Amino acid sequence: MSTDTLAEQLVKYLTDVHSIEQQALVQMKAAPGMAGDERIAAAFLDHLTETEGHERLVSERLEAYGAKPSKIKDLAGTLTGAGFGAFAKAQPDAPGKLVAHAFSYEHMEEAAYDLLGRVARRAGDNATVEAAGLIEAQERAMGDRLAQCFELAVDAALRELDPDDLSQQLDKYLADAHAIEAQALVLLGKAPGLAGSPELASAYSSHRDETEGHQRLVAARLDARGSSPSRLKDAALSIGALNWGAFFGAQPDTPAKLAAFAYAFEHLEIAAYELLRRVAARVGDEETEHVADRVLGEENTAAAHVRSLFDQALDASLAEQGVAVR
Ligand SMILES: [Fe+2]
Ligand SMILES: [Fe+2]
Ligand SMILES: [Fe+2]
Repeated sequence: MSTDTLAEQLVKYLTDVHSIEQQALVQMKAAPGMAGDERIAAAFLDHLTETEGHERLVSERLEAYGAKPSKIKDLAGTLTGAGFGAFAKAQPDAPGKLVAHAFSYEHMEEAAYDLLGRVARRAGDNATVEAAGLIEAQERAMGDRLAQCFELAVDAALRELDPDDLSQQLDKYLADAHAIEAQALVLLGKAPGLAGSPELASAYSSHRDETEGHQRLVAARLDARGSSPSRLKDAALSIGALNWGAFFGAQPDTPAKLAAFAYAFEHLEIAAYELLRRVAARVGDEETEHVADRVLGEENTAAAHVRSLFDQALDASLAEQGVAVR
């Protein structure tokens, strides 16, 4: 049932990254106006220029195969890109949410180019290997720059609050973390069945167990602070408003897309705890700071673990498409 050649698969990966860049362009244009800090805005502006370059490079590689970017995929990318702006703007803590989502998005791009490079290498397409490597390095560098922005984002978000509001704000960050863990449980609950290899399946299911622990730790902090359960619901709605599935087309339906998606999702969690940790420090809630530190360690390990299994995920994806694995 051989359905696709490696070259055809490569064109699909190129089409995917093209739509990811279309969405990134909308985000990079909207982000500086929401950043709440000049240095954060500048990071986005610099990356806008780079993103324009990525789009051109990917288009060139598509043209080399006589293929065109997919209009439908690009349209979906553009729409969710615009939705992203509306989403971040509607948030009371726009700078924090903006930096958190952008941080996760850059890791999704990094993962997508990592996979593209691996497919191109197998197909013997050196020009695409080179383009993917170059872009991947720029996505990683942007992710690193955004990691430097967590502190600035917390400054910008909390600048005008008095101490009472600050404490309330911490409850919201805790509620956000709780809601993200709820999403993680859904994702990791489904992931083992789609994983593509026993090792990936066990990576997902063991992190699912850790995730339950994270949610309990966060719930205990909310409880200790006397926060109400209705806040949890609010946060679930606001976090759920971002359509994660749109990043990679309709669904992370193959082992490779799932692994990239999980990698990006872990980075959304990392961002959430980086922010939580800083807000807790400002409020003087050492217990919450300690929880955030502990969870951060496990999220980082989980992300690195999934990333180390990308090659397996790709093998499984290509095998599912009927492409012989070399
Ligand atoms: Fe990019
Ligand atoms: Fe990017
Ligand atoms: Fe996680």
